[in-house]
Amino acid sequence: METIKLLIADDNEDTRENIRRMLSFDEELIVVGEAANGTEAYEKSKSLQPNVILMDINMPGMDGLAATQKITAEVSGCSVVVISVQGEQEYLRKAMISGARDYLVKPFNNDDLINTVKNAYQMEKKRLQGGEKDQPQKGEVITVFGTKGGVGKTTIAVNLAVLLAKSKQKVVLIDLDFQFGDVAIFLNVYPKRTISELAQEGNELDIDLLESYLIPHKSGVKMLPAPGRPEYAELITIEQVEKIIKVLKNYYDYIIIDTPPHFNETNLSALDLSSQILVVLAMDLATIKNVKLSLGILESLHQKGKAKLVLNRASEDMGITSKDAEETIEFLIAAQVPSEGKIVVPALNEGIPFVLSNPTAKVSLALQNLSEIVIKDRGYQNDLYERKSTNFFRRLFK
Ligand SMILES: Nc1ncnc2c1ncn2[C@@H]1O[C@H](COP(=O)(O)OP(=O)(O)OP(=O)(O)O)[C@@H](O)[C@H]1O
Ligand SMILES: [Mg+2]
Repeated sequence: METIKLLIADDNEDTRENIRRMLSFDEELIVVGEAANGTEAYEKSKSLQPNVILMDINMPGMDGLAATQKITAEVSGCSVVVISVQGEQEYLRKAMISGARDYLVKPFNNDDLINTVKNAYQMEKKRLQGGEKDQPQKGEVITVFGTKGGVGKTTIAVNLAVLLAKSKQKVVLIDLDFQFGDVAIFLNVYPKRTISELAQEGNELDIDLLESYLIPHKSGVKMLPAPGRPEYAELITIEQVEKIIKVLKNYYDYIIIDTPPHFNETNLSALDLSSQILVVLAMDLATIKNVKLSLGILESLHQKGKAKLVLNRASEDMGITSKDAEETIEFLIAAQVPSEGKIVVPALNEGIPFVLSNPTAKVSLALQNLSEIVIKDRGYQNDLYERKSTNFFRRLFK
């Protein structure tokens, strides 16, 4: 019989007792410990290695959200199910962003509790098995996304890839904008062989074959360009794209993916395989509306937790402030890239990424900052909320 080890974290002893009693109805569920606050939950998650933690939100000291974030970041194989009382919807959203697998709203019954626990356990088990099967999966997939044309996705993807390669990382840049992809132009390369010719090779896409299609750029980045003609896009299957990304993940540190300005099945697979999604925003109402809708779609696809919002062409005199944009979208901006046409456009026309031709320009320094966010994997909503609240408290106690 498979057993699932549980830790119950709640500051109320009666609640813990009640949950323990409900769980006792299923013999697969074994309660291995209890915690009365977030710190205790975090420590016991390490010492007792439970499979699932039932985590209350409001607890003294480290609360359930902070504990969830630490545990999901540090303790492998441990899923957190957050428990809250009604009216804490905003917390629940934050809980999911902190890495919780699921949540239960009090009051709940035995069946709800047991099913949620088993489901959270199975999901984590599947995730671990999936990871092991494709070992070694050393690389990270970063998709640059946005459903509005011309916001700067390619500009950001190319310059980010170059900076990551400069920091001695092995980087591949894939152009998934099959119809109008222009990554090759940004790098001043005119490829004969692209992803559509690669797709013609069938399904035996091993690393040697893939390497022979990757085009090296002097920055160190290797590139897999988009098809030479829009109609060749039809030759490429989603399975092939998935296979390409998965194989490259075993050999490269970063796979940076540039995408077309819409959702399609290919970039949905890329989003699914990504650990970070950079959603590019510009300061006009149409784009802001678009980004809000896109984040809604990402949420329904369970991908929103990976999103980091990048404001491109940030400028003081746009009639809209970044704060207005954040409030409208209900999502905080992780990084801003200034508008610097005098640097960005000639760089594109010459086919030299501006982080190479003008490394000290404001726009290059902003990209440098973004690359650090990506390397450190910061800039998620919970990091930014933290930053906001610390600033707030600092101001309060100054
Ligand atoms: N920060 C910036 N400052 C000035 N110009 C910029 C900036 N970012 C991008 N641009 C310019 O905006 C134009 C569109 O950029 P880019 O091609 O990167 O957008 P995109 O989102 O990839 O577009 P598409 O949706 O068509 O793929 C380019 O001419 C580029 O040089
Ligand atoms: Mg583009």
